[in-house]
Amino acid sequence: MPTQLHNIDACVFDAYGTLFDFNSAASAARDELGEDWQRLSDLWRLKQLQYTWLRGLAGHHAEFWQVTGDALDFALATLHIERPGLRDRLMDLYLQLAAYPEVPAMLRALKDRGMKLAILSNGSPPMLAAVVRNSGLADVFDAVLSVEEVGVFKPHPSVYALASQRLGTVPARICFLSSNGWDAHSAKAFGFRVLWCNRFGQAPERIPATPDGEIEDLSVLPEMVCR
Ligand code: LAC
Repeated sequence: MPTQLHNIDACVFDAYGTLFDFNSAASAARDELGEDWQRLSDLWRLKQLQYTWLRGLAGHHAEFWQVTGDALDFALATLHIERPGLRDRLMDLYLQLAAYPEVPAMLRALKDRGMKLAILSNGSPPMLAAVVRNSGLADVFDAVLSVEEVGVFKPHPSVYALASQRLGTVPARICFLSSNGWDAHSAKAFGFRVLWCNRFGQAPERIPATPDGEIEDLSVLPEMVCR
C-alpha cells in the first residue's frame, strides 16, 4: 500500500469506472445481450472515451449523454445487435449504474473525518444527478461537478481547475481518485495529489506525470488520506 497522503482537505472522484460500475448497464441487460454483453460493454466504454478525445481535439464538444449514445450506437452496429427498444433500455440503465460495493461506506467514513467530497466527471449534470440519487449518495457530496461548466472533456486542465476553484482548495490539498490511468496521470500533471484506483489491473500510461500511488479499490482510502 502506498504511504499516507497528509495535508488533504478534499477527495475528488472520477465517476464512471471509479465510483460507478459502467459494466452494470450491459450486465443488467444480459437477458437480451446474452454472452455478447461484456464485448458490448467494453466497446461502448472504449468508443465513449475515444469520442470525448476526438470531439475535444476537433473543437466539436457535445454533452456526454450524446457521446454515450453515439458510442452505444457504434458498439451495437459493430456487433450486429438489433433489437427493438434495446438502445433506450441500455441508455436508461446508464442512469442507474451501480456504485462499486465499497463506495458508500468509504464515502461516509471520509465524511465523518471532515473530508470535503466531490465528483468531477465528464458526465452531464442530469446524468450525474441520476446516478448519485439512484445509489443513495446525494447527501455525501459537497459538490457534483460536470465538465459542462467548462465545455470541454477531460483531460483538459480547465476541468481539473474547476474542482479546485469550486471547492476553494488549492490543488496540492486535493486528493484525486480515478480508475482511468489517463485521468490519474493527467490530474497529477495538473497539480493534484493522485491515487490511481487501478480496478482493472492496467499497465501505467506513458503520458506526463505519475500518480502518487496506486490502490486496487477504494476501500483503503479512509486510511490513506488525512488532513
Ligand atoms: C468520468 C469518466 C472519464 O466520469 O469516467 O469523467
